[in-house]
Amino acid sequence: MRSLLLAAFVVVRAAAAPASLVAQTRPAAVPPPLGVWTAVAELPGMGRSVDTARVAARRRALLARIGRGVVLIPAAHERELERDYVQDNDFRQNNTFFYFTELETQDAWLLLRAGDAPEAVLFLPDRAPAQERWTGLRLGPDSTAVRLSGISRVLPTDSLDPVLALALARARGPLYLPLDPTTRDEQRFRDIVFSARDVRNVRPTVDSMRLVKDGDEIARLRKATDISGLGHIAAMQAARPGAWEYEIEAALEAAFRRNGADRVGYPSIVGSGPNTTTLHYDVNRRQTRDGDLVVVDAGAEWGQYTADVTRTFPVNGKFTSRQKAIYDLVLATQQAAFDSTRPGVTIAQLNRIARDYMRGHSGTLCGAESCDGYFIHGLSHWLGMDVHDVGDYGTPLKPGMVFTIEPGIYLPAEGLGVRIEDDVLVTANGAEWLSARAPKTTVEIERLMSSRPSRP
Ligand code: GLY
Ligand code: MN
Ligand code: MN
Repeated sequence: MRSLLLAAFVVVRAAAAPASLVAQTRPAAVPPPLGVWTAVAELPGMGRSVDTARVAARRRALLARIGRGVVLIPAAHERELERDYVQDNDFRQNNTFFYFTELETQDAWLLLRAGDAPEAVLFLPDRAPAQERWTGLRLGPDSTAVRLSGISRVLPTDSLDPVLALALARARGPLYLPLDPTTRDEQRFRDIVFSARDVRNVRPTVDSMRLVKDGDEIARLRKATDISGLGHIAAMQAARPGAWEYEIEAALEAAFRRNGADRVGYPSIVGSGPNTTTLHYDVNRRQTRDGDLVVVDAGAEWGQYTADVTRTFPVNGKFTSRQKAIYDLVLATQQAAFDSTRPGVTIAQLNRIARDYMRGHSGTLCGAESCDGYFIHGLSHWLGMDVHDVGDYGTPLKPGMVFTIEPGIYLPAEGLGVRIEDDVLVTANGAEWLSARAPKTTVEIERLMSSRPSRP
């Protein structure tokens, strides 16, 4: 969609981006003295190395799809103490920028030029030593950034305008920007001067690329799902009648952090008793009672990728026969969908398979109506850097895609809700459970809970 706002950007840029400014581009700065060099591996967000070959392959794949033109992608900005958030180092990278760089650095830009001689340029703000007394070391436009990013051309951000103007002149193609309604990039784009006549949104292309995960992304998802499993185990171990929902949440999230999670992928849902029937309940303030079920829907984020896992368990460690019957139907429904997962199948088909299975096996469990009438949400969504990850839901499955399978039955009249959610990787011949670490059958859950310490 090419909005009026975009047309305005084009005009502003056209007015103030003479290509002759290219000559003012500064070369990469002299490397910092040795003392700083040794600390560079500890730059905020730089503790993890970039898979430079993978991100370069992603950039090449994007340019091959675009054919001609220039892509300009901004990094996220830090939130400000007082104005935006309570702590000024609360920073999460923009997903599009991360996908093509794996850098967690602030206020950067990535410029890519498609065509016969494709190129990548990374723009970084100059370092500010006085600021770094507060923030710690930052990545600046120097040879350290070249080494860490695997991008050979790194320039200061104040050279962005002339370099962009030249790239557009050379590319003789459109300018692609990530026009993301969830970020505040519009203002920044407006502030940047460019001379493109033809501006397009790069997000549909990037989003379709993000649907199929490469090996590095799958490794990140494995880490996130593993940590999440440990968190769910800790939640089950912390549960006992009379525990407050937030106590269970605290045990869950403590295990996330103890095992290296960067943050939660979304607010943790810990709903007990009647709260099990509210899909996105995240107040987590009720005191549990003997006989309650507890729905915990929570995922750890690691390396920008999040898990999305739900377990339902009895707060006292023992399912009633009624709870078990509902639980087992949800579990078998999930298995039926998993068993049908293979390349070529669509999410819509899996949804139908799951609902048909639930309907066919409901008996009178949910009264006159079939239980699938109480399965009030979709079966699946894509998973990746976003918990509800980007991508077209009509796309048939391919190896490397990752999505959730999360059937549920919610009976508000009984204060009884069950959801079971796991993350699944599509393989060449079928699928693999990624989030298998947390116990899932009633037997496994009861066994784990029977061995929990008598006091939390
Ligand atoms: N955790 C949100 C969802 O499962 O969609
Ligand atoms: Mn989900
Ligand atoms: Mn979930």
